[in-house]
Formats: sequence, structure tokens, C-alpha cells
Amino acid sequence: MPMHSVYFDSKMSDELRRQRLYEGQIFLFSPRPSTLALISHAREMIEGAFGNVDPRQAQFHMPVEKYVEICAPLKPAFIHHPKTKQLVKNILEEFKCDMDATYLDVPRLRMVTSDGYLTSGVGYAHHPHRDTWYSAPMGQLNWWIPIYEIESEMSMAFHPVYWDKAIKNGSHEFNYYEWNSVGRKNAAQHVKSDTRKQPKPEEPLELEPQIRFIPPPGGVVVFAAAQLHSTVPNTAGLTRYSIDFRTINIEDTKAYRGARNIDSNCTGTSLRDFMRCRDLERVSEQVASAFDGERPPQQADLVFRPDAVGAKG
Ligand SMILES: [Fe+2]
Repeated sequence: MPMHSVYFDSKMSDELRRQRLYEGQIFLFSPRPSTLALISHAREMIEGAFGNVDPRQAQFHMPVEKYVEICAPLKPAFIHHPKTKQLVKNILEEFKCDMDATYLDVPRLRMVTSDGYLTSGVGYAHHPHRDTWYSAPMGQLNWWIPIYEIESEMSMAFHPVYWDKAIKNGSHEFNYYEWNSVGRKNAAQHVKSDTRKQPKPEEPLELEPQIRFIPPPGGVVVFAAAQLHSTVPNTAGLTRYSIDFRTINIEDTKAYRGARNIDSNCTGTSLRDFMRCRDLERVSEQVASAFDGERPPQQADLVFRPDAVGAKG
């Protein structure tokens, strides 16, 4: 089924919303108290780190090494700040997610500088990819929130043609455990180029038509991790700061419900990164270990069915 709909401020249940997301549709939401609280927390941290320089213009006032020196510790500080996870939980609660079945990964703070100032390491500009090429569960949903005003030239792009069209890609060489042991911890060292091996498309892509959503600060874009998306090369003359986090529903995970796997061939799973909203308990080893190897073949066949949702009322 192709991607065809964007829901705006939908009030549908989380269950039906997940189904639509697994089918490739996208959800946009206006800012609300919980998302505004998260971005104001992020702004405090960002503005605190840059002192009296405007963070969106800081790149024009300092050498790139200095910019990295400020941002490299800011990213983990945001992730590990005691308030951060609680604020994300509040968002999921406001979106009526089941606190016992919904698991979250730590929220990430991203900065995308303008004019090619920093395109690697902490400022990595993502080539077109599906998160599922990086061992994300097929039922993973991504939540994306801009912290300041954005423009089209500094946003992210979706490439809807590829929702149901397989792409030859490098995910068969990707193993999540190897990636974690050598990859991420070195990100701060990558100022001029990036040596981490990323699963990339291995054929020319049609990146047009593409869709970019431009919500106000605190607005939310929710999409399936299997959606092909990329960072728009920033030419806006301002650095973009955004937050993203991922969720899964554990019942969907256990039943192999999620987006259809059309071209992800990686091994390993990021499931162990997820924590239950209620108490931050990790996904059990019993559930996670079933996904350690290659993708379970059932996933392609067990897409959520509308009648299953109807039946549960
Ligand atoms: Fe992504």
C-alpha cells in the first residue's frame, strides 16, 4: 500500500494511529503543553552552553572545532539530564500512549548547521535512509520536534515513493552490536569527515517528489522508522536544532506487528535500548533475543489489520 495521507492533530486512539503509521501514513501535531515543556528544557540547555551567542548563529562566530567542543558534551548532557526522560514520558502520556505497553528510547538532540559548516560527527547530515537499516524494530515509530522556528531549507525530507519500493542498500553489512562497539562513541572526533560505516542506498534514488513538514517549535512529526527520510542540506543561514525520540509498543513487537520489511537485511536489534514508559524497565531479554539474528520472516506478513482494531473497540 502506498503512502498517501498526512493526519493533522488527529484525535484517533494510539492503536489506530500505530496502524496508520505502520501503513506509511504520517502524523503532524500542533505544539501542546508537554512538547513545549520539552523544547523549553532543551533551549535552556542549548542557550546555557553557548552563553551569550545565539545558538542558531553561533556557527558564524566560531571555528568549527569550537562549535564541536560545545555541542559534543551538550548532546549526552541532554540525553542523561534527569528531567529529559520524564518530559518525554509526559509527551507520550499526553498522546494517550499506554504507559505499560509503550517503550521509549532516549531522546536525541540534533544540530544541523547551515552552508556545509559541519556535516559529520555531532552534526551528521543524514543521507536518505530508513532507521530499519540500522536495526530498528519494524514497529518503531519516530517522533521529531523542532526546538526553534525552521524553514524548508533546514528541515527533514520524506521520500514517499519508496515506502513500498525496495532499495538496494548496504544494510546486509550492518550489525547493531558492532556499530555500538566502534561507532557512536567516536562521533565527537569526526569533525571534517565521518568514517563510521553507514548502511546507504546502493542505487540511484529518485529523491523528488519529496515532502518536508515545517511545524512550529514544539510541533511534532510522527512517522514509521521504515519511512525513507533524509536531512535537507541546510542552506537557510541558521543552524537547526531538533529533538527526536523513538517508541515501540511491546505487544506489537511480540506479535511481529509493524511496517512491512521490504529491504532491511541488517542483523542485531536496537530493542534493548528501549525502556517501558511506566518504570523505565528495559525490554526483557526473552523478547529481545528473538530479534538478535536476521529479521524474522513473519514480520512481512503480519501487518496490523483494521478489523483487529475494530474488534477490540
Ligand atoms: Fe533517521
